[in-house]
Amino acid sequence: MSTNITWHPGLTRTERESLRGQKGFTIWLTGLSASGKSTIATALEQHLLHNNISAYRLDGDNVRFGLNKDLGFSEGDRNENIRRIAEVPSPPTLWTNGEIAPTTVSKLFADSSTIAITSFISPYIEDRIAARELHSEIPFIEVHVDIPVSVAEQRDPKGLYKKARAGEIKDFTGISAPYEAPEYPEIRVQTDKVSVEEAVKIIVDYLQEKGLVK
Ligand code: PPS
Repeated sequence: MSTNITWHPGLTRTERESLRGQKGFTIWLTGLSASGKSTIATALEQHLLHNNISAYRLDGDNVRFGLNKDLGFSEGDRNENIRRIAEVPSPPTLWTNGEIAPTTVSKLFADSSTIAITSFISPYIEDRIAARELHSEIPFIEVHVDIPVSVAEQRDPKGLYKKARAGEIKDFTGISAPYEAPEYPEIRVQTDKVSVEEAVKIIVDYLQEKGLVK
């Protein structure tokens, strides 16, 4: 427990955004394994960076190599996976009114006036609601990367569905573990119907309409 510490207020998020000429927020991709989350997230990050808009991608597989390498795929471990991404208990953010707000990993990026693009299956509605609530007044754009399980299973780029069907992987999303689809996401992209480029355009058009990017 730290003692004798004093919070140094520094710049506010609004001041940072105005100095950098860019808003910070989170684009939260959710969807089945093999739905195209990581591919779209990477293409979107590339598109934004090409246009001099600062963005950073946080990916389910990648985060599980480090920060969350101790977690598996039981319901409890998945809750914890999303909670850590959504709420890392360091360092607290102070709102302009002096109140301490919970800090989230994606929110840290948003707070630095960067666009955080997260791609986690995040199968439970409650976890996604909690992540949204933690963002408080920072925009949180939920994107459902929507694909029927049957199509994801046909794609099966990592051979995981095959293993799940053979009983070699337990708790596999869509086969032996649930995926709770969002009812009202800000954006839905049906990746069995649109290309990666079209999906990126749908997201960027939405951001422009809302005045979040130029
Ligand atoms: S979650 O549900 O949000 O905690 O999952 P996430 O952190 O996004 O990790 C998903 C990737 O882990 C691999 N994998 C599994 N996915 C689902 N169920 C089980 N049991 C499982 N085991 C391993 C898989 O490569 C997922 O990556 P994507 O990119 O989604 O295919």
